[in-house]
Amino acid sequence: MGFNEQHLLGIEPLAPAAISEILDLSEQYVDQNLRENKSSDKLAGLTQINMFFENSTRTQASFELAGKRLGADVMNMSMQASSIKKGETLIDTALTLNAMHPDLLVVRHPHSGAVDLLAQKVNCSVLNAGDGRHEHPTQALLDALTIRRAKGRLHRLSIAICGDVAHSRVARSNILLLGKMENRVKLIGPPTLIPSDFAEFGCEIYDDMDAGLGDVDVVMMLRLQRERMDGGFIPSEREYYHRYGLDGRKLKNAKADAIVMHPGPMNRGVEIDGDIADDINRSVIQDQVEMGVAVRMAAMDLLARNRRAKDQNEGLRL
Ligand code: NCD
Repeated sequence: MGFNEQHLLGIEPLAPAAISEILDLSEQYVDQNLRENKSSDKLAGLTQINMFFENSTRTQASFELAGKRLGADVMNMSMQASSIKKGETLIDTALTLNAMHPDLLVVRHPHSGAVDLLAQKVNCSVLNAGDGRHEHPTQALLDALTIRRAKGRLHRLSIAICGDVAHSRVARSNILLLGKMENRVKLIGPPTLIPSDFAEFGCEIYDDMDAGLGDVDVVMMLRLQRERMDGGFIPSEREYYHRYGLDGRKLKNAKADAIVMHPGPMNRGVEIDGDIADDINRSVIQDQVEMGVAVRMAAMDLLARNRRAKDQNEGLRL
């Protein structure tokens, strides 16, 4: 009943036991990443291709480092410079790469559902590094590991997810994961940025920060995703910061030991006060980055094991 998928496309299909298995293995990689020698050979001989159709700093670097630390041959495709610019379809690009026999494809794409579609066309394992507003499963897993380490558990916590929920795949994957692990999830933001159907996921919805942050254990801030907005979702950044930006005064509503998270990249002075983001007694933002490498190592290690087991069952491996 653990993690026996061939791809990691989203949190949606995962059972709580599968989530726990990934997090437990990640703990071993957190330790490995603190050693002087951070390498192992779990993915030796395997080829990992990173295809990012949208800009990324930390996610791409994190996947690259994760693959290298496990001994894989890692290739970063620069999708800006690729044949996509010449009009090749996503599927043609995928089939071309597939013919090079990669074992792991890490894909980020601006369209929701594009990564799932691609996974149906290739023979290797596909990891979703963020598709449109849909899912970003490794971000939710690294957030879960960060919370579990800071709070000592990943259930029966009260967690606020604040800001631009509407455009956020990070929020969606987190809502799914935290719900499966039986936490109380509150969504806080202006009604224009919180779709009311999120109540169906069992979330409570607030448009007032002071009320929503009451007694929470975790405050997760989201970036205002200007690039996905096509109209007047917010009056002005100044007004937004005043009402929804996390500052010391609003944070006082949360529990005294509440942690502050942000997936990055941060807009300081828009959704979060820089001093709060840098406060090492409250902010776990750097831990999130650290956990990201470990979680991606665990996810790729497990996918490679699952693939090996499947090939052996089908008599495909020599
Ligand atoms: C997030 C993303 O790309 O979805 N960033 C990330 O992966 N670290 C969040 C964001 O862009 O705001």
